[in-house]
Amino acid sequence: MSASGIRTIGVVGLGAMGSGIAQLAVEAGFDTVGREVSDELGEAARGRIAHFLQRKVDKERMTDDEREAALGRLSLTTDLAAFDGCDLVIEAIVEELEPKRALFAELERLVRPDAILATNTSALSVTEIAAATSTPERVVGMHFFNPAPLMPLVEIVRAELSSDEAVEAAYGVGEKLGKRPIRCHDTPGFVVNRVLIPLLNDCLRVLDEARVTPEDLDTAMTAGAGWPMGPCTLVDLVGIDVHVHASEALYEKLREPRMAPPPRIVAMRNAGLLGRKSGRGFYTYE
Ligand code: CAA
Repeated sequence: MSASGIRTIGVVGLGAMGSGIAQLAVEAGFDTVGREVSDELGEAARGRIAHFLQRKVDKERMTDDEREAALGRLSLTTDLAAFDGCDLVIEAIVEELEPKRALFAELERLVRPDAILATNTSALSVTEIAAATSTPERVVGMHFFNPAPLMPLVEIVRAELSSDEAVEAAYGVGEKLGKRPIRCHDTPGFVVNRVLIPLLNDCLRVLDEARVTPEDLDTAMTAGAGWPMGPCTLVDLVGIDVHVHASEALYEKLREPRMAPPPRIVAMRNAGLLGRKSGRGFYTYE
């Protein structure tokens, strides 16, 4: 399967990342099947996509007709069997190895043998996910960044047994989605998170070391280092739980102390302060 043969994309998991990926797919003209575990969660994702497309209409970056057409390309399901017509399925479920492996084993049975299977994992091993299937050559990583509709990068991750064809098809789809894809191998954190996670953890340690407020730390890094958003705002956006989990996964693999999550954010995660999604993290959200 080459990128030009890919017409229908499945997205499993319509949380922040999955709904952003589904939005990109419908905007780029792909028929898109989105799967959530309940109709309510699926409809909530459709609502978020409709909202962001409406904002584009309001800002005259899209016409009403284009918005309607894009939304018309999105179908929702709770049934994985609905992926039987997909050419590419992108997984964006919970960031844990075993559920992902179980999902890939099931997807392999349900999708066409030539369909490509991609994971949006940010810190787990694509090779370990692919090993749950008997056709690991068609499994690749497609790692989008949060918020997926706005961040230009997608890392196309080659696992140990990924075929050239699958890697190139995923790269081509990344381009069609309007992204700037890069190719990399399946190493812990790939490219961006290998650098960004220890850097963010350094920032969070400075909170205590320099006894600086989150607001002032964010000002320091935006006004002094040119970051588009400060580290506390960014970790709140990504999700404190997601950041802790990614830090732990990298630390487990690389054993570098800077990778380990600072105790302060582990305590925040344990207290349910998850950032934007829970309404409270370093900051409070409406
Ligand atoms: N989905 C779709 N559209 C969205 C959106 C979302 N989640 N969030 C915002 N938008 C749309 C909105 O319509 C918004 O306009 P309105 O507020 O008028 O509705 C529009 O985008 C523009 O939003 P902003 O005005 O907030 O845009 P900005 O110019 O301030 O840039 C940004 C926003 C691109 C996010 C910028 O702040 C930025 O680059 N931040 C850094 C983000 C970053 O580093 N992400 C990587 C995180 S790490 C990661 O993802 C890896 C991992 O594996 C965990």
